[in-house]
Amino acid sequence: VTATTGIFFNVNGKDVWVDQNLDPELSLAYFLRNKLGLRGTKLGCEEGVCGSCTVVLATWDDTCNKAHYRAVNACLVPLFHVHKSFVITVEGVGSRDKIHPIQDRLARGHALQCGFCSPGFVMSAYALLRNHPNPTIDQINSAIRANLCRCTGYRPILEALYSFSYESSGCCGGKGAGGSGCCKETRSETEEYEDKLLSFEDFPKYDPTQEIIFPPSLRSF
Ligand code: FES
Ligand code: FES
Repeated sequence: VTATTGIFFNVNGKDVWVDQNLDPELSLAYFLRNKLGLRGTKLGCEEGVCGSCTVVLATWDDTCNKAHYRAVNACLVPLFHVHKSFVITVEGVGSRDKIHPIQDRLARGHALQCGFCSPGFVMSAYALLRNHPNPTIDQINSAIRANLCRCTGYRPILEALYSFSYESSGCCGGKGAGGSGCCKETRSETEEYEDKLLSFEDFPKYDPTQEIIFPPSLRSF
């Protein structure tokens, strides 16, 4: 493969070369689902509205000497755009054998019903945690603002994801609200959620050191 005949990228830790002439309209979502068989990336609207096709694209920042992760709508990303990128799909985040804390909290937090939107929520939250392992509530709200759910309702999804903020900040997560706890002063934007549906205190903690590393093959470009 040369720079003029094809593209090179990495998906979930596996290098991928596409060395034929690329259809400029071939989308990343189509390639992931139909060429690599990664059907965890869902297709809903196919026009950038629903977020169900969200995957993570990571690129290496030589200046900061670290990777930057961003959630993108794979239905809108032309495949040629991912040249030299690290693509992470929901299959690369966790599995039934090794579930990721995001998936664990959404699943056991009753944050899904049909589950069609769930991979998209997982990937948006995943991009956030890779960049900010100790996210704020505002960062979480911002991260999932482009993800739609048609059946569950958003409260359990928010509670599951907010738990990452409470965990890293040492916040009581609502238990002290109305009393002497930290929430009284710091959680005005989430006061409506003071009576928690579920406590995530006993869930496995998020450990950034367990994440898949940025592929060395992409750092040499
Ligand atoms: Fe809806 Fe991509 S399928 S945003
Ligand atoms: Fe069905 Fe979200 S759980 S669309």
